[in-house]
Amino acid sequence: MLFSRRMDGLAPYLFAEMEQKITEKRRAGVDVISLGIGDPDLPTPAYIVEEMQRQVADAANHRYPSNWGLPEFAEAAASFYQRRFGVELDPAKEFFPLLGAKEGLAHICWALLDPGDLALVPDPGYPVYAGGSLIAGGRVRYLDLLPDKGFLPDLDEISTEEALRAKVLFIGYPNNPTAAVIEDDFFERVVAFAKKYDIAVVHDNAYSELTYDGYVAPSFLSVPGAKDVGVEFFSFSKPFNMTGWRTGFAVGNHEILSHLWRLKTNLDSGMFDALQRTAAFILKGPWDSVHEMCEVYRRRRDLLAEALVSVGMEVPKPKGTVYMWVPVPAGYDSGSFAEHVLEQAGVVVTPGRGYGPAGEGFVRLSLTTPDHRIAEAVERIERSLRL
Ligand SMILES: Cc1ncc(COP(=O)(O)O)c(C=O)c1O
Repeated sequence: MLFSRRMDGLAPYLFAEMEQKITEKRRAGVDVISLGIGDPDLPTPAYIVEEMQRQVADAANHRYPSNWGLPEFAEAAASFYQRRFGVELDPAKEFFPLLGAKEGLAHICWALLDPGDLALVPDPGYPVYAGGSLIAGGRVRYLDLLPDKGFLPDLDEISTEEALRAKVLFIGYPNNPTAAVIEDDFFERVVAFAKKYDIAVVHDNAYSELTYDGYVAPSFLSVPGAKDVGVEFFSFSKPFNMTGWRTGFAVGNHEILSHLWRLKTNLDSGMFDALQRTAAFILKGPWDSVHEMCEVYRRRRDLLAEALVSVGMEVPKPKGTVYMWVPVPAGYDSGSFAEHVLEQAGVVVTPGRGYGPAGEGFVRLSLTTPDHRIAEAVERIERSLRL
């Protein structure tokens, strides 16, 4: 059988491959501890599940939804953005539901990129920015995220020629995988850069609600002029332990969103109305469960950070996300270290190389595992390094 050339060289998604390895190990009887994928171990809060049960039981929610989404969901998102970020949104024009942020990030590439167009992609970065761009036929110009620059891309390193060829810039803070947060005028500089070169900005806001030590993450759209150039993607997956529900939304520039709408009317038939009504219900609050999740992850972060000191892998405690971005010990690269801890300790960590070439030398550890398992994982790593 012949397949599309688009599939040539297209590897399975990073975690699809890791999933296979974990399954093989577990089949072989290994008690695997995964600090790999950021998939919350705790269940979706009961008040959300109960609301969804009510909405699913309502026959009014059973028909085809509209791709633009229900006004109820759009208005709840707009009022959440006003309350939480001080951002004014027109719910009728500046909101669009997504079947998870990943879906939206991949599909927006089809609306923005022609074959050969340049996408500016952080390196390391959430793999969908590069993957989505390449599948759409675009080319990727990686922007290094380095520790000494606070894991922010240096926009001055992009040549004028590259900037003129670029159609989209992906950014995301609090950042996966580096766990960096925004503490300066980076968003303002991005808006100025995007305006100068007429580049669409996609800000991935999947972790804005999971922050620690008093840090509050801003919205990209809170910067004056941001809506002229960009959109922001919000996800329910991490703050509400809803990774399986596939629920998110995009807000911001109407022209970009209406192109995404036109594309997606040809691909899917929108988000289940019951889910949209539940999402609206969640956005209205209260958000005690999110505060509780932040406390859980802060505790695990402290536990992991302290345990890593004993292994000689000390890193500063991150102020956001559910990850720690850790340099690998001397004598390893990210792949060989991940392989070593899987084989010798039965612990899964994500090799930094999977997030782009500049991720080499790091591994990402996820906090979405119970406290005692995190402690045990580091003990096992420590033992394996002594072997
Ligand atoms: C940076 C980032 N963006 C988007 C997503 C995907 O979000 P969703 O589950 O809403 O598709 C993830 C998931 O890990 C992520 O880390």
